[in-house]
Amino acid sequence: MVPDLQVNNLSVQFRSDEGHVNAINGVSLVVPAGKAVAIVGESGSGKSTVMMSVPRLLPGNACVRGEILFDGCDMLKLSEKALRARRGKDIGMIFQNPSAYLNPTKTVGQQLIEPLLYHHMASAAAAKKTAISLLDQVGIADPDARFNMYPFEFSGGMLQRVMIAIALIASPKLLIADEPTTALDVTVQAEILMLLKQLQRDRGMSLVFITHDLAVAAQLCDEVYVMYGGMVMEHIPVPSLVNQCSHPYLQGLLNSIPRLNEPVGRLPFIPGNPINTTRALPDGCIFADRCTAKMDICSKRPPLFSYAAHHEVACWLAQTGGIA
Ligand SMILES: Nc1ncnc2c1ncn2[C@@H]1O[C@H](COP(=O)(O)OP(=O)(O)OP(=O)(O)O)[C@@H](O)[C@H]1O
Ligand SMILES: [Mg+2]
Repeated sequence: MVPDLQVNNLSVQFRSDEGHVNAINGVSLVVPAGKAVAIVGESGSGKSTVMMSVPRLLPGNACVRGEILFDGCDMLKLSEKALRARRGKDIGMIFQNPSAYLNPTKTVGQQLIEPLLYHHMASAAAAKKTAISLLDQVGIADPDARFNMYPFEFSGGMLQRVMIAIALIASPKLLIADEPTTALDVTVQAEILMLLKQLQRDRGMSLVFITHDLAVAAQLCDEVYVMYGGMVMEHIPVPSLVNQCSHPYLQGLLNSIPRLNEPVGRLPFIPGNPINTTRALPDGCIFADRCTAKMDICSKRPPLFSYAAHHEVACWLAQTGGIA
């Protein structure tokens, strides 16, 4: 299948007078057309930076290298004009905090139809019709009346539904959702996740879902990329996650998911601190200092070993056959 998005050897460094942050250090990933791919990792592992590189929304102090192939061209080589023609049309984005992205002085309806008018995809009347139908699809009751209301008149969960509608209004091929439910309570979170999954399937869209929650990633996605220190540690199909997960970091993440039938207080955790990306990276495996399976060979950086279809592991255990 032709991938919708292919990121090749991406590196991002944030530069400032105080020093540099090596946020992304050679990430390659593929989002197959029509599939849902999760990017999982601890805070600061570079999840948002990778995906903000795709529509080139990183701040000016970001130095980006590599290749980002989307729909036949390298996003990093597009002119500003060509980029603007794609943002919001071919690529939709949803973020954690919808109220930070919505304009409080404009009605929800005005903000919904904006992408259609900006990209000359519909007349004002047709755009309004599409917007109201989409509000209905994302589960907003009484969409005609809601179209004319302002963001402050909506709850957090409803605003996230509005953000989803805005991201989808121009029928993008790719939807990037960056921790879209973290700020919501659990029941609303589950509803929004189900809605996203349903919309992704119905529209045959590709979805990149960024989360620190492995359980949510497994529910929603077909494949998972696990990031640490701006690198991919493991790429694994969801059905293999529990039985064939290989990297000690991913095993640690899986073990630290709370289970209802276990007493509180016995939760294993990954010892040590996340790698400091403001310093030069070590020559060897960047997880070695925290790894319980560390070997002599880990003083050399492991490549991403291809393990099975859609399954890659950046760990020497994959080469030595030490992985079950
Ligand atoms: N504008 C910026 N200037 C300098 N450093 C930045 C900037 N944005 C991100 N970083 C740094 O880049 C690294 C990766 O950040 P990023 O936001 O991509 O992580 P993340 O995995 O999305 O984390 P979170 O789960 O907290 O959202 C971090 O060390 C962060 O401090
Ligand atoms: Mg983030």
